[in-house]
Amino acid sequence: MYLDIAVRGAKSSYYVRTIIDWLYEIKDIIEDEYSAKVKIHHVEEPSEIPEVYVCGEFAFSGLPDNEGELIEIIKSVVERKIIKQENINLCSKKEKYGGEKLKEEHVCGYHDAASLNSTKDTSSLEKIVHDIEKMVIDTLGFEPVHGFPHIERVMKIAFKLAEDFKEVNPLVLKLAVLLHDIGRVEEETLRKHHAILSAEMAKKLLVQYGFSQEIIDKVVDAILAHSFTLKYTPKTIEGRILSDADKLDALGAVGIMRVFMESAYRGRTLEEAINHFYEKLFKLKDLMWTEKAKKMAEKRYKFMVYFLDRLEKEIEAEE
Ligand SMILES: [Fe+2]
Repeated sequence: MYLDIAVRGAKSSYYVRTIIDWLYEIKDIIEDEYSAKVKIHHVEEPSEIPEVYVCGEFAFSGLPDNEGELIEIIKSVVERKIIKQENINLCSKKEKYGGEKLKEEHVCGYHDAASLNSTKDTSSLEKIVHDIEKMVIDTLGFEPVHGFPHIERVMKIAFKLAEDFKEVNPLVLKLAVLLHDIGRVEEETLRKHHAILSAEMAKKLLVQYGFSQEIIDKVVDAILAHSFTLKYTPKTIEGRILSDADKLDALGAVGIMRVFMESAYRGRTLEEAINHFYEKLFKLKDLMWTEKAKKMAEKRYKFMVYFLDRLEKEIEAEE
């Protein structure tokens, strides 16, 4: 027996994420109650407010007060279906994910993870990746420069670049993107390069979760290779993609936003912020590995040059 719960809404929304986290927390309770396997699905939609469907039936929208209330709502929908004797398998195939028309999207964003790590089935892998994602959010927070919003941007770029390479292992890429900056929080206290720290932390974590040595080695290689200053050459396509995606996030409008936010945070002068463009950012476009990244970098670079030209003119009142 199985019981499908679908959450519809934007994954970037706090409310949607909270509901998904809570569902994973209460999953065991529901499974014990009905002796059914609970499957949690996320369906990406623009709305910030989540809509939750239990066995295809609309349960509620918004955020309940707490996990206890969430359990009660889910139970009331399930009981209703049982009373109506619709409990053959609790959910019929038709009802999965809130209706046939909806496009299913796994919480973890990849679809065939089981084939990538044969020791785990898809749902347990999704749960592991979800837990890792949660840990990354807790570690990095939502600060836009190096926090989880940076990870989300890099993830989008990385999977866009990966479209050109059939050989990319999406699980390796996802884990590498998620974990590539976790060492930043310890960088200053331990006086160690954040890419090395992140690689060490990732290795430890992935060993604990029982990932295969091949996956661990590829993730570690990609993390070491993403850094501009470490100058480590990636051995894998996932490493080249992560390196490109991370550098692209330092370019263009986003790159400009990051420079000035970081400069304000570190108390740098405007002159120092501008120097950073010449000393590091303008060099990044020549360090791309993939063709698509080279084109994207060129566009983003041109926008930065235009911006800096305007900025310098306005500072000197030369308009
Ligand atoms: Fe990064």
